[in-house]
Amino acid sequence: MSQPSERGLFIVFEGGEGAGKGSVLSAVAEWLQAQGIEPLCTRAPGGTPEGQVIRSALVQSGANWEPSAELLMMMADRAQHVGRVIRPALAAGRVVLCDRFVGSTLAYQGGGRGLSSKLIGDLQAVAAAGVSADLNILLDVPPAIGLKRSLKRLAEEKSSEDLFERLDLGFHERVRASFLEQAAGDPEHWTVIDARRPIAEVVDDVKQQLLSVIEHR
Ligand code: TMP
Repeated sequence: MSQPSERGLFIVFEGGEGAGKGSVLSAVAEWLQAQGIEPLCTRAPGGTPEGQVIRSALVQSGANWEPSAELLMMMADRAQHVGRVIRPALAAGRVVLCDRFVGSTLAYQGGGRGLSSKLIGDLQAVAAAGVSADLNILLDVPPAIGLKRSLKRLAEEKSSEDLFERLDLGFHERVRASFLEQAAGDPEHWTVIDARRPIAEVVDDVKQQLLSVIEHR
């Protein structure tokens, strides 16, 4: 496999709750390592120590933020994440694998909470200052299936980061519709993978997509 160029490669994994992003991202990172590519793996919110503070305040059960406050906090996390982690890694030519980015903001704060895409786009322009994904990989799963998976995992991990999981199915259906709409509107930068299937099959599809992106750059 050819090495990433000086500009690096920014790959974002998106999807609703329980889509399996974390497991797929880890499997793909191991596969890249076996090819001699050391990816930088990160996530949003919470990809910096400062962002971790924002994450804990945002996604704990019982948090009750105004939608606009929630959006501003996601964007504060983004500015810190891009400035301190993502941009320097790309400038150093690294492959960055990121669990969620602006697609999630458009899906959750836009589709889910009803905030305008224009407002989100304007704030994203400030927070990310030109950094955007080379490829967004949407792991698509119907919310009824994903939420069940996600609540099971949170219970196993005794995690209280379940703010979004506790929202109704209608919210999660809007999140999914927004992701699918984003993907349909920008096929050059999005690919949709059916994540209802066994993880090995999902990982194989993601590898094919990455090979094609790496080879065509
Ligand atoms: P995670 O469960 O994938 O780690 O993400 C934490 C939650 O944060 C998840 O429910 C989606 C939500 N989120 C947003 O609402 N807006 C955003 O911009 C991001 C990055 C995540």
